[in-house]
Amino acid sequence: MKLAILSRNGKLYSTRRLVDAARERGHTVRVLDPLRCYMRIASDGFQMHYKGRQLAGYDAVLPRIGASITRYGTAVLRQFELMGSYTPNPAGAVLRARDKLRCHQLLAAQGIDLPATVFGDNPDDTMDLLSMLGPPPHVIKLNEGTQGAGVMLTEKPSASRGVIEALRGLYANFLVQEFIGEAKGADLRCFVVGGQVVAAMRRQAEQGEFRSNLHRGGTAERAVASADEQAAAVRAAKVIGLGVAGVDLIQSARGPLILEVNSSPGLEGIEAASGIDIAGKIIENIAKKQKRHKAALAKNGVAPLLNK
Ligand SMILES: Nc1ncnc2c1ncn2[C@@H]1O[C@H](COP(=O)(O)OP(=O)(O)OP(=O)(O)O)[C@@H](O)[C@H]1O
Ligand SMILES: [Mg+2]
Repeated sequence: MKLAILSRNGKLYSTRRLVDAARERGHTVRVLDPLRCYMRIASDGFQMHYKGRQLAGYDAVLPRIGASITRYGTAVLRQFELMGSYTPNPAGAVLRARDKLRCHQLLAAQGIDLPATVFGDNPDDTMDLLSMLGPPPHVIKLNEGTQGAGVMLTEKPSASRGVIEALRGLYANFLVQEFIGEAKGADLRCFVVGGQVVAAMRRQAEQGEFRSNLHRGGTAERAVASADEQAAAVRAAKVIGLGVAGVDLIQSARGPLILEVNSSPGLEGIEAASGIDIAGKIIENIAKKQKRHKAALAKNGVAPLLNK
């Protein structure tokens, strides 16, 4: 198979691991900076160039697109799809995963449980918005936040209101959730490949902290996801449309709750914690699926792919 990995930096651990795993299995692989891919869109066909040369004949493409280049990156990815390449994570799915509110709506609509979440626009509505959620503690999250930065816990109604007013003053987008205290500062990252959890790690927040992010002092260890955790993670990835996904969940009294579905999950932490060759599993799954994709393409053409 001829595989393209869309990544801005070929030196990153995840990218290197995927390149090595592909080469070890006899595939041709190239890392392409999505921002250097440019394209021609016309009804007589789709073309892509890279640093002055034409790109063609890629059987598969794996996006590793950072949040800051989501729009351009997914346009490039979509162009590859239109040129017939298979991808486990189509442009539409990556866009869905990147929009937290949409993601929550899609998951909840399929009966997948998550912490009850509210959001609103007008400051005049803050009191009623909070009453829709119920009494504190509340978790307030900036939409643009990552690695635990921008995730706050408020224990009193006045604190919730104060934080919300401050965020509105800064024109920040945020959502407010019920606090799942039973999780006791632990969350579970399930790595989903091709409809299966291939590895999992439990992250535990340090003493006095509810956020389990490693950047906030959390620790990670190998874990075996329970049957209900695996089912929730697999379903969440499927609803968003991702073949490769990092699904974060926390355990609550009512079962596992989805926190996030990540379309470019890092490999370093979870390969180290689990000892599992996740890069190899991703490549093997892509190699298998791209064959089926070719047959479907011959039958249906590329147009149906745009809604994926
Ligand atoms: N509703 C909640 N109840 C209890 N703990 C929570 C809740 N939401 C988040 N946490 C804890 O805080 C951590 C950080 O939250 P979250 O993962 O939503 O944000 P992030 O890591 O900053 O962003 P992202 O994962 O989207 O990059 C979680 O890993 C979890 O340990
Ligand atoms: Mg997180």
